[in-house]
Amino acid sequence: MRRHIIILASTLCIGFAFEACKHHPEIIDDNGGNGGGNGGTDTLIIENPDPCSPDTTYFVNTIQPLLNSMCAVPECHDAITAEDGVMLTDYAHIMQQVEPNDLNSSDLWDKGIMDENDPMPPAGSPQLTQDQINEIAQWINQGAQNNSCQEDCDPTSFSYSQNLAPIIDLFCDGCHGGNNPSGGFALGTHSQLVNMVENADFMNALHGTGGTPIMPPNTTGLPDCYKQQFQLWIDAGMPNN
Ligand code: HEC
Repeated sequence: MRRHIIILASTLCIGFAFEACKHHPEIIDDNGGNGGGNGGTDTLIIENPDPCSPDTTYFVNTIQPLLNSMCAVPECHDAITAEDGVMLTDYAHIMQQVEPNDLNSSDLWDKGIMDENDPMPPAGSPQLTQDQINEIAQWINQGAQNNSCQEDCDPTSFSYSQNLAPIIDLFCDGCHGGNNPSGGFALGTHSQLVNMVENADFMNALHGTGGTPIMPPNTTGLPDCYKQQFQLWIDAGMPNN
């Protein structure tokens, strides 16, 4: 039964997203991707042991998960569709749309997020928050480096509002927000997360086990610390804490 619902919902979502992503037919980059062969990313492998500075926006920690969730989605700027020749899956492709230290020469900014006529993501899709827009601007203005930092993550804390909601905003919302959430499962409120855990194969999705596709798709998964926080929260009865 659930399978039917999921299949129907995905079909609707794809149809919807296809319409939503029509944008800028005049901007054609020559590189439409490698046919999706290397669409996978290593988003979450953080090699830099330095702690995160509050004054810096890091590509690996923030920009890549955000663009993956909000833009590199099926029928939009993923490796397969690469709408308008724009692929926002990994650093090399994202940099085709970015001019370091120069916001207004960066297509990601000027012809994408800040486009006068048709700002991205398209109307009807989950939108970037002002904080997220500021992070993207800061990252470009700080040289658009492929940088990362070691987050201060406590694997024993599991507050919905303090720990889990920010992770969902960054990593899941682009696909599981809005009117046509992927898989038919919305995320964004406490009760929606409870519903997802109760009705989907949640922890298998985080681990990519049991035949469930790993979430976020095309990544190596969330950092272990985040997965532990979700597990402890579920074990504690999914409090709205
Ligand atoms: C790029 C888009 C995208 C992102 C980002 C994303 N998902 Fe998904 N998710 C999907 C799609 C598409 C499906 C339906 C897959 C299917 O049923 O085969 C899905 C299905 C799921 C399912 C149901 C799995 C099952 O079969 O029971 C869960 C649970 C899930 N996602 C959790 C998450 C979580 C948690 C995050 C953030 C950490 C996330 N997803 C991020 C696209 C995404």
